[in-house]
Amino acid sequence: SNRRISGFKPTGPLQLGNYVGAIRPTVEGQHAHPTIAFVADLHALTVPHDPERLRELSLQVAGLLVAAGLDPRRTLLYRQSDLPAHAELHYLLECVASYGEAHRMVQFKEKGGGSGTRLSLLTYPVLMAADILLHDIEEVPVGRDQRQHVELARDIAMRFNERYGPALTVPRAVHPPIAARLADLADPTAKMGKTNARSNGVLFLLDPPDVLRRKIMRAVTDGGTEVAYDPEHKPGVANLIDLISACTGGKPEQIAQHHETYGALKSTAVDAVLSIIEPMQQRYNQLTEDEIGQILADGAEQAQDRAAKTVHRVKEAMGLTTAR
Ligand code: TYM
Repeated sequence: SNRRISGFKPTGPLQLGNYVGAIRPTVEGQHAHPTIAFVADLHALTVPHDPERLRELSLQVAGLLVAAGLDPRRTLLYRQSDLPAHAELHYLLECVASYGEAHRMVQFKEKGGGSGTRLSLLTYPVLMAADILLHDIEEVPVGRDQRQHVELARDIAMRFNERYGPALTVPRAVHPPIAARLADLADPTAKMGKTNARSNGVLFLLDPPDVLRRKIMRAVTDGGTEVAYDPEHKPGVANLIDLISACTGGKPEQIAQHHETYGALKSTAVDAVLSIIEPMQQRYNQLTEDEIGQILADGAEQAQDRAAKTVHRVKEAMGLTTAR
């Protein structure tokens, strides 16, 4: 069945949006699909960062993936910078992608633009394409915000195959049916994100339970008092319902029907979130840095062969090697 990959950028501590949008779909799919997960530390260099903090966050992200149920015996888990083939394929694909394509990416328009913007922020989606194409991936489980990037990877693969012969598998994005874009609890128009500054609306996977409870009880709701699932007119309430639905598997309309007040809805949201996060935190606290480091090292070693084969195939097709 279809091969999958998912990546997580260690620019901040993981949050619930990462979980419902990508971690859980990856974990749930790992028995049916050959799966790879990796810590996208090279991507974290595209914005200002502290080296010590980056090292710490990379281990934390990997540890949380394991705590969330990713089974390293079944699923390859590694750190992007440990596998040089990512950077190598990135350069080769920079010679297939165009400036216009990179410049059109919504995330670049939102975050970049000034003359001090790191060049790597512009080429970020090309590195992401390399991550995916390196492993002959068919499906990429991601949140809605990454869809455009996966489509670029698709376009690059198709163009490459047309120009140089069929060397690359063409991937596509897959999204969870609910909460593909979990919103910030303090601002339901914004995506919940690990780098949202000062936000009380981001539920971090390592927040203590009382902090999670407080953030949820203070979530922005909407005018009126009636609990109804109406994402367009009641985005705050709909986001809470999505959150519950994503955590419990319940249907949004039924969740709405079962609650009379916003307060009751929030209490259910607290229970739903804690029932997922507390066991994850317990497992996380049992992992040591040595164990995580070992898992990452093993993963990088195992990922090497396939990656080297892809790079070789691409180089051959582009006229870079002598042997044919
Ligand atoms: P990142 O690190 O920002 O997020 C990791 C994953 O979590 C999803 N996500 C969300 N889903 C639903 N609601 C939200 N509020 C929410 N916030 C984040 C993201 O869509 C993503 O799936 N560029 C990627 C990392 C990456 C990657 C890759 C992913 C690099 N190479 C190759 C897949 C394949 C990123 O910044 O994700």
